Amino acid sequence: MIPTRVWAISDIHIDYQENFDRMLEFARRGHRADALIVAGDATDRLDRLGELFRELVSHFRQVLFVPGNHELWVRRSGHEDSLQKLQAIRALCANTGVLMEPVLVGQYQKVWLVPMLSWYDDKDQPAHSLFVEKDYAEDRTDEMWGDFVHARWPQHMTQPLAQFFAAANEPHLAQPFQHPVISFSHFLPRQDLIFHKPVVEALALASKYDPLPEFNFSRVAGSRRIDEQIRRLGSTLHIYGHQHRNRRRHLDGVTYLSHCMGYPKERQRGHVAHEAVEPLCVWRDDTGFVV
Ligand SMILES: [Fe+2]
Ligand SMILES: [Fe+2]
Repeated sequence: MIPTRVWAISDIHIDYQENFDRMLEFARRGHRADALIVAGDATDRLDRLGELFRELVSHFRQVLFVPGNHELWVRRSGHEDSLQKLQAIRALCANTGVLMEPVLVGQYQKVWLVPMLSWYDDKDQPAHSLFVEKDYAEDRTDEMWGDFVHARWPQHMTQPLAQFFAAANEPHLAQPFQHPVISFSHFLPRQDLIFHKPVVEALALASKYDPLPEFNFSRVAGSRRIDEQIRRLGSTLHIYGHQHRNRRRHLDGVTYLSHCMGYPKERQRGHVAHEAVEPLCVWRDDTGFVV
């Protein structure tokens, strides 16, 4: 029997044809026994997303997806707001056979794959925010960040967005997971994942070499709510994306892995690894975890 493998990637941004081609090339290599995790930021165009989904489901046994911030942009979608677009993405997943709910995979051994919806908490939610102050520059994040222009939320939403998305995961979290768990979200679950060094050291370096001093990524990075849910799930491995920085960290008993394809120019500049043009194998049912 062919072993089942679990592959993961995020931020494939298929509006770049080069990225789309690399994904299709990988998919067509033969993955009939495998599962693929796509952790958000594929495209804000639903027609392209549908094209991607239909192609992927024809090559993989399971394809799992969570939307990133780009999927929830409404700038050219015709949707009234980003919630309506989220519903359209759910419908697209259901129609194409892409999963946004937990699934148990594997033949010899088994592992749960658990998608987690998420958004970021800003500094006005200090209990959950990943905010790190840059005291060396004026903060112009509000003007510079695309979500504040391209995503639109209904007036009636009074709770923080990160809370809304976390609540949507609750029905899935309540079920018993009697096998190891691989969870995944688009956004970052911990502040210390933003940096490749301890926060204080990273900030000291950034104050000298920060290429974008007026932009504070920590304001739009993620939420501690995601980590609370990861720990309740008892995940062994958590896949995330969004920052376009590839990292692998083991923190308090959980491995956090970011394997982002990113933009072609980010690969040229070495901001994301060249090998991230393809999904990474994270688990096999003949050997277990491979990261
Ligand atoms: Fe992205
Ligand atoms: Fe993102």
